[in-house]
Amino acid sequence: MNPITVRPADMVRITTPALAEKYIESQISDLREQIGDKKVLLALSGGVDSSVVAALLIKAVGRQLVCVHVNHGLLRKGEPEQVIKVFRDEMNADLIYVDAVDRFLDKLAGVTDPEQKRKIIGAEFIEVFAEEARKLDGIQFLAQGTIWPDILESEAGIKAHHNAGGLPEDMKFELVEPVRILFKDEVRMVGKALGLPDNMVFRQPFPGPGLGVRCPGAITRDRLEAVRESDAILREEFANNGLEGKVWQYFTVVPDFKSTGIKNGKRTFDWPCIIRAINTTDVMEVTVEHLSDALIDHLVKRITTEVPGINRVLFDYTPKPPATVEYE
Ligand code: XMP
Repeated sequence: MNPITVRPADMVRITTPALAEKYIESQISDLREQIGDKKVLLALSGGVDSSVVAALLIKAVGRQLVCVHVNHGLLRKGEPEQVIKVFRDEMNADLIYVDAVDRFLDKLAGVTDPEQKRKIIGAEFIEVFAEEARKLDGIQFLAQGTIWPDILESEAGIKAHHNAGGLPEDMKFELVEPVRILFKDEVRMVGKALGLPDNMVFRQPFPGPGLGVRCPGAITRDRLEAVRESDAILREEFANNGLEGKVWQYFTVVPDFKSTGIKNGKRTFDWPCIIRAINTTDVMEVTVEHLSDALIDHLVKRITTEVPGINRVLFDYTPKPPATVEYE
């Protein structure tokens, strides 16, 4: 039986746990029929879509699914650890963890052009993933977290939809796309029904090139670490102040310039950390989330005392347009 590849016009929007369960049951039987006793490969980033695909496939075919999690060094603090804990430890997935941090950061060293940085990250990702795939025997299927808006956007010519993950021509797999006909809110509903943790299911959007676009100019390990640590503090404080899940996207950026400061009576010459918190519905236009004075003061204190290399905190009050969400 061929899987459904087009969302039926009369499909009921999955808005309740019961509807999510129904979808999961039907997918499990469809996936078992499509895959049989063959093996499936999945690049598991830990983002919502690939995580839900993984959880569905684990339920349907268990260890016939092989997940590859590539740590490119540009992930947020705690992300690789969470992927391993949730999928390998709790769901008993066959998970290959690839520590490619040095490979990516060495390739990116000295590269200042944003487009070039993105190209290097994208190409290196495919190379690492393809290398892992070549080591495996008997893989017939490639699972992808394609969702319905990806199809609509590619049909409208807005975004290229990368079939088969841009893998080399000689690597031919049949596609498995178990959330292809779902909208994002439906994917989250299904993820929740599958028992994935809330901070994975309701995660804010995170760009493919990761923290790389929040470390403008040439990425250095120390500045990247300052982005990662300040981002972790910001996320922790948003969670503690009831803003997690309410504000669309929030993150920090550490630009490549230094200014004078003072710490423990001594002159410092360190980076500023920029906080950006925005709301939107379609990401074409965004507004700025205004934080309380108390929260801003607290963030300034924590970031300047806890993050090495930071002596100033700035807040970006610019909507889109004229600014974009990300800095590169
Ligand atoms: P911009 O900066 O274009 O961002 O206003 C709009 C939204 O898209 C996210 N973004 C990306 N997502 N790969 C992604 O998967 C990317 O290269 C990328 N660049 C930006 C951004 O975080 C924001 O939510």
